[in-house]
Amino acid sequence: MNSRSAPSGVTLAERARRVIPGGVNSGQRSIPGLTEMVIARASGARFWDADGRQYTDYHAAFGPPLLGHNDPDVNAAVAEAGTRVDLCGVAVTHGEIQLAETLAELVPSIEKVLLTSTGSEATFHALRVARAATGRRLVVKFQGCYHGWHDSVSLNVISAPDRVGVPDPISTGILPEVLDATLVLRFNDVAAVRAAFAAHGDDIAAVIVEPVPHNVGCLLPDQEFLQALRDECTRAGSVLVFDEVITGFRHDLGGWQRISGVTPDLTTLGKAIANGYPIGALGGRADLMDLFSTRPGAPAFFAGTYNGHPAVVAAALATLGKLRAEPVHEHVYRLGERARAGIAEALADLGVPAVVTGHGSVFVTYFMPGPAPRSYDDLLRNDAGMFIGYRRRMPEHGIFELPLNLKRNHISYAHTDADIDHLVEATRAAVRDTLASGGTTELAGTATMGGAVAGGEGR
Ligand SMILES: Cc1ncc(COP(=O)(O)O)c(C=O)c1O
Repeated sequence: MNSRSAPSGVTLAERARRVIPGGVNSGQRSIPGLTEMVIARASGARFWDADGRQYTDYHAAFGPPLLGHNDPDVNAAVAEAGTRVDLCGVAVTHGEIQLAETLAELVPSIEKVLLTSTGSEATFHALRVARAATGRRLVVKFQGCYHGWHDSVSLNVISAPDRVGVPDPISTGILPEVLDATLVLRFNDVAAVRAAFAAHGDDIAAVIVEPVPHNVGCLLPDQEFLQALRDECTRAGSVLVFDEVITGFRHDLGGWQRISGVTPDLTTLGKAIANGYPIGALGGRADLMDLFSTRPGAPAFFAGTYNGHPAVVAAALATLGKLRAEPVHEHVYRLGERARAGIAEALADLGVPAVVTGHGSVFVTYFMPGPAPRSYDDLLRNDAGMFIGYRRRMPEHGIFELPLNLKRNHISYAHTDADIDHLVEATRAAVRDTLASGGTTELAGTATMGGAVAGGEGR
């Protein structure tokens, strides 16, 4: 509870807004209805706000803490690194070598690998080196996929219905010619991929894809689709990039590429790699990776003051070590199944048309009739009022799911069977109450991510 000396969330949030634009440090953290929330503490499957409220966390910071918040083994490794070594900005450390060897061992596509601080840097450099290697201009991405904040990929993520099929930037300030150089296709649409290659194959530098588009919840890929991407890229000499920032390590130590058996040329990693410490990675074919300026004389510039920071490298080594040594995936996959089955049954009892989907530790409930969605267009049928409405009621039950349209939930090694049973009953109650009140109509700032226009606030 709030001690007399501890400032309340309202007071702190007000202070934040005075000196931080919007009061937060990342674009999707200022959430309508939650603008007075200030985070005070996190541990295992839970976090607490400045007013002492406890939440069982299924948002999981968009995905990193697969072991749970503040994992003691990861924190111990970081503390130990701090007593021994620091960032020196020259040469390499033993930890960086061990981590690169581990990534090359685990992830099928990785022959060589470079470390970044974020996933966005990894995807940025993937596209830069693809253009450097091919001398080509175009990048292909898919509607609904998010690959970070940089210009080439800052379009067509969660688009309003009238922005599907046309360029839908998520930011202003991007040169039109950069947006023009990105072709946006429909996920799981083999014919669209073949048509794009038939028309532009000679000028396609890279295809970048989330093998499972989790930035819109969960679209499961057809095997035929991923294979078609591989085949078309190979035939045209384009670089296939699997953005496994979410799927890498969370779904499998070898990423979705190990699950699917489709091997890209380059892979980007982040999030669960270090359980919440800031590190990303870009790895892949040695001939492509050797184009980076970390090899003397090579043409594709690559740098970062904090790349390979010993503390975050120690966090990654400890995280990957624990993922290998303990039944983490077995646990989160089992709880994921339990959550999906329980929620589906609860919503069927209530007679609500819903698709409860996901993979492994990731789950999401769309409020629409089945079958499970295969591309972003299918998700336009989701009832955003129900989706956001029930999530706004989950804190009444001590549970946090991010109340933004289409956002996925994550289970960690720290969640228990009892947590999942509570989640199912809380979801049942929150959906029932949302139905009774007719769903949320206040959707401003929650339903889409796009429509950025100069001088406007977007949609
Ligand atoms: C699939 C994917 N790629 C790249 C990124 C960008 O990573 P970061 O936020 O660490 O820059 C994200 C972040 O959500 C992501 O989900």
